[in-house]
Amino acid sequence: MESLLNEYYKPVLKWAGGKRQLLPVLLKNIPDKFNTYYEPFIGGAALLISLYSLNRIKDAIISDTNTDLYNLYKTIRENPQQLIDELDNLGFRNNKEDYYKARELFNSSSNPVERTAILIYLNRHGYNGLYRVNSHNEFNVPFGKYTNPGMPSPENIMALSRILQSCTVMNADFGIAVKNASKGDFVYFDPPYMPLSRTSYFTGYTHSGFNERDQERLSETFRELSKKGVYVMESNSSTEFIKELYKGFNLVEVDARRNINSVGTKRDPVKELIITNYGVL
Ligand SMILES: C[S@@+](CC[C@H](N)C(=O)[O-])C[C@H]1O[C@@H](n2cnc3c(N)ncnc32)[C@H](O)[C@@H]1O
Repeated sequence: MESLLNEYYKPVLKWAGGKRQLLPVLLKNIPDKFNTYYEPFIGGAALLISLYSLNRIKDAIISDTNTDLYNLYKTIRENPQQLIDELDNLGFRNNKEDYYKARELFNSSSNPVERTAILIYLNRHGYNGLYRVNSHNEFNVPFGKYTNPGMPSPENIMALSRILQSCTVMNADFGIAVKNASKGDFVYFDPPYMPLSRTSYFTGYTHSGFNERDQERLSETFRELSKKGVYVMESNSSTEFIKELYKGFNLVEVDARRNINSVGTKRDPVKELIITNYGVL
């Protein structure tokens, strides 16, 4: 595997359930060869970026039901320089007052480039990098009090823009996003996890969240793709419910540290499952 070894190939967002810690395990378990890559819960895109930097991807279909994320990836793909200029001109600093001004502007703006730039600022400066909206679909994450949050560099934006040139970006449910996957393609599912307990309950990724019925629907899609000869890998939390849903597939339990927890200071190691329908484990 020849790596592009490019320090700029990294996510521009911190995302709940971001896969950076699990990457070595995920990479070890991807199929040797595949055609189109599908990532229908794209979030911060950690695995996509990593596979691309290892020259493992020719083309990809990525999707997320979060419209702000969709808008972010479309903007980075189509208008990277405009976004870099917008980030340069934002002028918001790392304090409470600026953060809340930025949040207000984000909620009132309909300009995709402006919204993307502010979303990046809010993601880096807001509490735990969370994305959460209220019942009016307004972003409502409080200020994060980070000492040195930093912002993505122009090179980081440009590198991601290069990756996205070979991606189809969708704003759709996972079922629609993988509809055309066929034999030899590779799908990676990283759904919002099942809560392990009430205190770790966190499904506020979008307005609708993701419930047990969605988990069942996902396992049905996993089975249908398997029948078509598509390679499928999924990460999920290690609960009896999930293990039961994926009975008969390869299940491997790994220790992972969630990078976003409902209680910011309590980041206990948790067990996650890597599920595949092929025999590499
Ligand atoms: C665990 S996160 C993915 C994290 C990502 N792998 C990363 O490295 O950052 C799950 C994502 O699924 C999205 N999502 C929730 N319900 C969905 C659905 N029904 N179809 C597609 N995406 C959905 C959320 O908006 C969220 O971005």
